[in-house]
Amino acid sequence: MSFLPISYKSPRVTVIGAGRVGSTLAQRIIEKNLADVILLDIIEGMPQGLALDLLEARGLELHNRNIKGTNNYAETANSDLVVITAGFPRKPGMTRDDLLKVNSKIVVEAAKNAIFYSPDAIFIVVTNPLEVMTYLTWENTGLPKHKVMGMAGVLDSARFETFIALELGVLPADVKAMVLGSHGDLMLPLASSATVNGIPITELLDAETIEKLVERTRKGGAEIVELMHTGGAFFAPASATSLMIESILLNQSRILPVAAYLQGEYGLNDVFLGVPCRLGSAGIEKILEVNLNDTEKATLHTSADSIVNHINTAKAILKNQ
Ligand code: APR
Repeated sequence: MSFLPISYKSPRVTVIGAGRVGSTLAQRIIEKNLADVILLDIIEGMPQGLALDLLEARGLELHNRNIKGTNNYAETANSDLVVITAGFPRKPGMTRDDLLKVNSKIVVEAAKNAIFYSPDAIFIVVTNPLEVMTYLTWENTGLPKHKVMGMAGVLDSARFETFIALELGVLPADVKAMVLGSHGDLMLPLASSATVNGIPITELLDAETIEKLVERTRKGGAEIVELMHTGGAFFAPASATSLMIESILLNQSRILPVAAYLQGEYGLNDVFLGVPCRLGSAGIEKILEVNLNDTEKATLHTSADSIVNHINTAKAILKNQ
């Protein structure tokens, strides 16, 4: 079977991990006409089959992007962007350290292989635990900090916006809200700056209702796992990742919450954490420091401490392997 030649003009995105998040992301990228996609997985035949299936829909979906499935990193060469989704979601009975152990190894291997063939790429990490995996990717690619980032804040913000929109019965696109901090129990949904077309939600909802929506956002991932039994969310994570890719490839300069490497911002150092960033063709072009109250600042610092501990655990695990 021959593969249609990839246009030299098209940007090239490699998606590592062709599971539910990776394959849905590949679909979003080509169907939004953003880039050609190389879909890589460790399982033989699986990314090739998915790619062929997506290619056969090309005429029906009326886009003109190519997709290729592979098990070989050499075929990812010269990608503009690499997305790492390889790894496993937490299963029942698995501790955080167990997950850290299995996913650290997978992500480090993916990062090293991908950077070898695409030394100029920008990397977006999706695998959990997110901030730790993003740190390991940054460290093992040797890339400058603006070229490595984690996807979590866009997803968590979309969840918060959805819950606000459902509560008010308005169009979700009219709701603007940011979730900063870590992708976990300590995430920081910023209710004070959330608006519906400029109207603060604090004028539309009482404090108790807002707190309920914040709590549902914090547990957004777990709510889906509980309903599905067989794994976690993947449609909205893929949409959130494709939004970041779009802002980078089309140089849109969107301000999005992204897990970025901090060097003094928010009083934090040597850690990846969700903060508002301007995303353009260079990657993270600016980190914005917004005013936070003392409780919000404390939450960010507690999250950062916990992430640093997990980074150290991951490094120790990798050293002893
Ligand atoms: N190299 C390449 N791919 C790998 C490797 C590896 N070393 N190890 C595992 N994979 C692949 C698996 O074969 C699988 O196809 O990663 C894929 C993971 O897919 P799923 O199990 O469907 O998981 P998914 O729901 O896509 O989540 C992936 O994203 O949101 C996060 O928490 C989530 O960490 C998880 C990741």
